[in-house]
Parts: sequence; structure tokens; C-alpha cells
Amino acid sequence: MKFEKIEMKWHKIFENDILHQPDFIRQIEVKGKKFCAVKHEARIIVTQAYCPHAGAGLSGGACKNGVLICPFHRYEYDLNTGRGAKGQGDYIEIYATEVRNEGIYVAIPEAFGFLKRLF
Ligand code: FES
Repeated sequence: MKFEKIEMKWHKIFENDILHQPDFIRQIEVKGKKFCAVKHEARIIVTQAYCPHAGAGLSGGACKNGVLICPFHRYEYDLNTGRGAKGQGDYIEIYATEVRNEGIYVAIPEAFGFLKRLF
């Protein structure tokens, strides 16, 4: 069986001036798929939209000391690594972001588009 390499595609999600705004957590949509965007200490972190524990929208949560806290059962996820707190045994996806002259971009796997076409 041959596996194809998953291509990452960069998408602009914010203008650069958002880095000067107060910290936030909000849901964003890229190519029809939802993600959670966190502005924390002058950087943008993009994670999967829903908590792996029971599916809560992570954008309804809180951010404290670089940790994203789920609004439902308060599971915690490190925003640098995506790792769940000790004992949780889970993690969230963190997507690469880049600050460019023309805005802030996130890298999303093209496979999402492929899977969307299947279902
Ligand atoms: S749904 Fe997120 S901690 Fe339970």
C-alpha cells in the first residue's frame, strides 16, 4: 500500500495588528473547518476546535500560564506541545503558525479537504 505525503497549506487567518490587541480565545474557520485560535503573550496559537475528552468547544475555555483549559471538565492542554496535563492521557493538535509581512498564517493539512470530499 502506498501512502501519499500529506501536504500542508498556509492560510491567512489574521492581520498583524491583532498581535497588539488584548489576549483572546476564539473559534475560527479555515476552508470550512473549525479551529480554536488563542492569542497569548503576543503570539497566535491554533489548535483543534474540540476537546478530545468529550467534545467541548475549546474556544469557550480559558488560557492561563500557557495552558488552554477546557470549559466543560477543566482538562488542561499545554499550548506549546498540545499535551494534556498529567494523568489525562490525551493531547490536542497544535497547528504551525507564521507571522509574515502580510498577516498571520496557519498551516493546515490538505488531507482535511480530501476527507471532506469522502464524507
Ligand atoms: S470536554 Fe473538555 S474536559 Fe471534558
